[in-house]
Amino acid sequence: MFRLLTGEEIPLEFHRARIVQMIHLVPLERRLAAIKAAGFNTFLLKSRDVFLDMLTDSGTNAMSDRQLAAMNIADDAYAGSESFYRFQGKIAEIFGKQFVLPVHQGRAAENIICRAFLKNGDVVPMNYHFTTTRAHIEANGGKIVELVADEAFQTESDCPFKGNFVIEKLVKAIENIGVAKIPFVRIEASTNLLGGQPFSLKNLRQVRSVVDHFGLFLILDASLLAENLFFIRSREPSCAQRSLPDLAKEVASLVDVLYFSARKLGCARGGAIATADREIFEKMKPLVPLYEGFLTYGGMSLREMEAVTVGLDEALDLTITGQMPACIEFMVGELKKRGIPVVAPPGALGCHIDAIKFLPHISQKIYPAGALAAALFLVSGIRGMERGTMSSTRGTDGSDLLSDMELVRLAMPRRVFTLSQIKFAIDRITWLYANRQLIGGLQFVEEPKVLRFFTGKLAPIGGWDAALAEAIRSSAIADTTMAEI
Ligand SMILES: Cc1ncc(COP(=O)(O)O)c(C=O)c1O
Repeated sequence: MFRLLTGEEIPLEFHRARIVQMIHLVPLERRLAAIKAAGFNTFLLKSRDVFLDMLTDSGTNAMSDRQLAAMNIADDAYAGSESFYRFQGKIAEIFGKQFVLPVHQGRAAENIICRAFLKNGDVVPMNYHFTTTRAHIEANGGKIVELVADEAFQTESDCPFKGNFVIEKLVKAIENIGVAKIPFVRIEASTNLLGGQPFSLKNLRQVRSVVDHFGLFLILDASLLAENLFFIRSREPSCAQRSLPDLAKEVASLVDVLYFSARKLGCARGGAIATADREIFEKMKPLVPLYEGFLTYGGMSLREMEAVTVGLDEALDLTITGQMPACIEFMVGELKKRGIPVVAPPGALGCHIDAIKFLPHISQKIYPAGALAAALFLVSGIRGMERGTMSSTRGTDGSDLLSDMELVRLAMPRRVFTLSQIKFAIDRITWLYANRQLIGGLQFVEEPKVLRFFTGKLAPIGGWDAALAEAIRSSAIADTTMAEI
């Protein structure tokens, strides 16, 4: 953050925009038609109807001039590509793990890992799940057990490391489940579904010794590692003087396998699994040609692979990586000042609104976070993502497994939005908060069995969308339409 003479702290941009892409704030009536057609599910909106796309940071980050230049030297060989050896060399240099499997994205890594190591009835202890991780574990007959502190679910908190394992819980869980049923322990960097909350280096070291004690192995989901390293450096006093590359080396040395979505870490598109253990590598290796592609491209475009190689270097540059957390800190701070409930402390990935507190009149059973995401789109053209019970699943008795939190995530793709766009978002959320009584719940009208939040369709209970649209029409925010396309 950069302090102005007025004392205000702003997320100053350390880059210049040299290529830009037009976006449009389409009229209210068109937004209303669009959200209806999308079944009130922001995943099903068309990008052309969206003004600020804060759905995700996955594959939507700005790429650098160096990344774009690198794409031009791609070696498009099916086998033995030079691009792969540069990619592998960079991963080995940064993480000290020389055995590298490329995959087309993060969940593909999860597929390979789960197929290689999981058997029916297994249980995977973790700090917290991510949607696709849980889906792959369950698809392979396994279960998850989550071991963060209860404070991780308190949205108003000053706990700097909500992604930490509670070590006593980890030990107890391993003893109760039994080592034979635990294929590996998983730790996720900047835990996505907790609101981008990091773990500390101290905690990771403790997890490592527990894992060693029981003779298990440890897997790191490093998709949001760069920001986690940033938080270790800024929140863990003993690490304040350390560089991100130095921290990356130590974190990687504490885990047996790491995998990442390069749609996040690396700011392009693709992914990888890396290990220094040949035996572990050999178990996963045959699955890559089967599910992804030959071992030196693994479903990735080699142009993207070149961009990731450069992007990994850039991810360890403090100025570059610090930009996303600074934008999030600014937005969280401004919303808090206005009394709007958000996840604190600010984490990685995006600004997360607490929908249970925003909409206390809506029960979790009728998806307050989904309703809030749809309402925000109507008010502003901003697309956020529901991260609550809609993103959960149903138990064996058919009832919803209520999520630990109901969040609307407003993702902050790296180096994409300007300060004035963030201020616009704050302004429209403030209007919506003042008019929150107009928002009602949602119910599924089409509900897929697996990962239902991606493609499920819902309806607004009691047709509250009409009243909200009417309130927008007759308010000061009615004239925000700037362009038709
Ligand atoms: C922590 C984490 N793990 C795994 C994934 C899955 O990655 P992908 O979307 O590339 O399949 C994501 C994506 O958002 C993520 O945030």
